[in-house]
Amino acid sequence: MTTFTIQDVRKTFTNGEVNEQVLNGINLSQQQGEITALVGASGSGKSTLLTIAAGLQRASGGQVIFEGKNMTDMTQEGIRKIRASQFGFIFQSSHLVPFLTVEDQLMLMLHVSETKMSKREQKEEVIKVLKLVGMDHRKDAYPASLSGGEKQRVAIGRAIIHKPKMLFADEPTASLDSKRSKDVMILIRNLTKEFNITTLLVTHDEEMLSYADHVITMKDGLIIY
Ligand SMILES: Nc1ncnc2c1ncn2[C@@H]1O[C@H](COP(=O)(O)OP(=O)(O)O)[C@@H](O)[C@H]1O
Ligand SMILES: [Mg+2]
Repeated sequence: MTTFTIQDVRKTFTNGEVNEQVLNGINLSQQQGEITALVGASGSGKSTLLTIAAGLQRASGGQVIFEGKNMTDMTQEGIRKIRASQFGFIFQSSHLVPFLTVEDQLMLMLHVSETKMSKREQKEEVIKVLKLVGMDHRKDAYPASLSGGEKQRVAIGRAIIHKPKMLFADEPTASLDSKRSKDVMILIRNLTKEFNITTLLVTHDEEMLSYADHVITMKDGLIIY
């Protein structure tokens, strides 16, 4: 089943008098339970495409269709609701909240996603997910006491705690060494398969491509293969 489609997406940034065409008509579609990796030189438009796909910024043209709904036509509030309840995000840096424990980082995300679970169920779910990402033993720790790889595991837990249908990741392994990078990619792959998530991921690490189901190469705002 195709759950996510990008049709002829274009993006132009205007800097003063100058228009820069950053995406020149991108088409792609994704099936549930599959990882698509976007690769390409720096500046080729990968992050711009990912943030448009994730509803974090609007396209200048074209359509983004999630489960039959055209996100391009939605209000900001409509997009916010989808983002909060159906999408998960992982970035290069973990972006954990410094004054919250590991457990509370995930509790906060459940709150944002407007979960219907009781507080007790939420706590149970958080522990379950922390086990999945191998971080339950650090549930009371603050981010400052975690290693880079551990922080990224918590960030992955936070990205999937509300059972999103889509997972967006922008260079999730860029700040990690090669062993940690592999661990993180294996984790993302296992979670994608186990929960039947549709994952769109940007990477510039060739070694990570073997964990993707599809690889798309971008150049100058176009998919070249
Ligand atoms: N908010 C913005 N305003 C102006 N130009 C931008 C903005 N975001 C990205 N760009 C430009 O778009 C191009 C593609 O950027 P990006 O999508 O970040 O590429 P990548 O992730 O492949 O490195 C770059 O030339 C960048 O300078
Ligand atoms: Mg980028």
